[in-house]
Amino acid sequence: MTFNPLPLFCLGFIMAVVNAQASTPLSQQHTQPEVEVLHWWTSKGEQRAAAALKQAVNNNGMVWKDFAVRGGGGESAMTVLQARAIAGNPPTMAQIEGPAIEAWARLGFLTDLESIAQQQQWQQSLPDIALKVNRYRGHFVAIPLTLHRINWMWLNKQVFTQLNLAVPHTWPEFMHTAAIIKQAGITPLAIGHEPWQVAMIFEMMSLGLHGAEHYRQLLVELNPDAITSTKTLASLKMFRQLAQLVGPKQNIQEWPQVTSDLAQGKAAMQLLGDWVKGELSALGYQADVDYLCAPAPGTQDGFIYNMDSFVLFSQNSAHPQQVSQTMANLLMDKTLQSQFNQLKGSLPARQDVDLTGFDSCSLKAKQAFDKAKANNNLVPSLIDSMALPEQQQNEIIQLLHRYFYQSEITPEQVVQQLLNIQKRLGQDGF
Ligand code: BGC
Repeated sequence: MTFNPLPLFCLGFIMAVVNAQASTPLSQQHTQPEVEVLHWWTSKGEQRAAAALKQAVNNNGMVWKDFAVRGGGGESAMTVLQARAIAGNPPTMAQIEGPAIEAWARLGFLTDLESIAQQQQWQQSLPDIALKVNRYRGHFVAIPLTLHRINWMWLNKQVFTQLNLAVPHTWPEFMHTAAIIKQAGITPLAIGHEPWQVAMIFEMMSLGLHGAEHYRQLLVELNPDAITSTKTLASLKMFRQLAQLVGPKQNIQEWPQVTSDLAQGKAAMQLLGDWVKGELSALGYQADVDYLCAPAPGTQDGFIYNMDSFVLFSQNSAHPQQVSQTMANLLMDKTLQSQFNQLKGSLPARQDVDLTGFDSCSLKAKQAFDKAKANNNLVPSLIDSMALPEQQQNEIIQLLHRYFYQSEITPEQVVQQLLNIQKRLGQDGF
């Protein structure tokens, strides 16, 4: 189904009307405040991590009401959130990422958490990238929980040992290795065809082939010179080469299915963020024993990030203050952030959480994060909602996905389409 996001700016007016009409919230019928949580954590690993959160909420005198919307990357969840907001019935709390936080805050939907943040000195414990996206006009309006590294390559260890293969460090090495694996009758790349999964590899390629500066110009700024550069053309050509290796679209849609293929050795490699690790752990597989983690080719010095945050829609809660205070305490708790992120595969959003107990891949991610930050190689994921408004992001995802599977589309046509998207940037009212 194609997704047509409703521009959020339409919601401002509608909310003014529906706010006045909102019926008695369900939560008033319980003695313990009910917290309805909208999120998109539906795979085995994600559910395991979400269960820890749910438990903590229930242990703290609240009732967690689950509202999970299937679909990796959160596109469908965001559509549902918008529909519920229009109907005057937003959940108490929602998972959210990147610039969308500011857009919701601008419309007046979100609970201001600044006084809690000040009491608890959030600013001191969070990296700059979290301060930027979780605040609106200098006030915290969202609670950051995870820090995911996107540019990961997951390898089935047994397949690599059996075929006597070395971990590829560059894109040409990756292609060569993939061709050998294919010849051996094993699927080289575990990839589902959800558009965002496919497009995410283009992000990794742009960083891996041309570095952080080019990445920023192309995928964060949509700079016309970067779009028309020979570097972008080279990335598009490499992306097409990968598409030829992958072959026609299979019937597999969702990322957990292909992660399971990777775990079982039906596929050899997967290029995706570290929620894959949460999934592999939930399936009973161990880092270094069953699978290896390595930076996506060419990206050892870089770190493409996305962060999961939570926002509170207090108008539908019977106890807004109690709920905000408890949820902020819980989600920003160091022990909770440690426990949750170990299950999720990510790093804690807080920088002062002790990483004892995290596995070797998480420790590598932490080292890579610190190094990339120090060297200006830390970049937001465009595809995972951290860089551009929703409208442009979704157009780029669809464009890259079409290009990947339709060989008649030329790299030059993609460049032209990117220029068209760039021209509309800032004109869609987001
Ligand atoms: C979220 C992750 C989630 C992944 C796959 C990303 O947008 O940040 O928490 O696991 O999508 O659904």
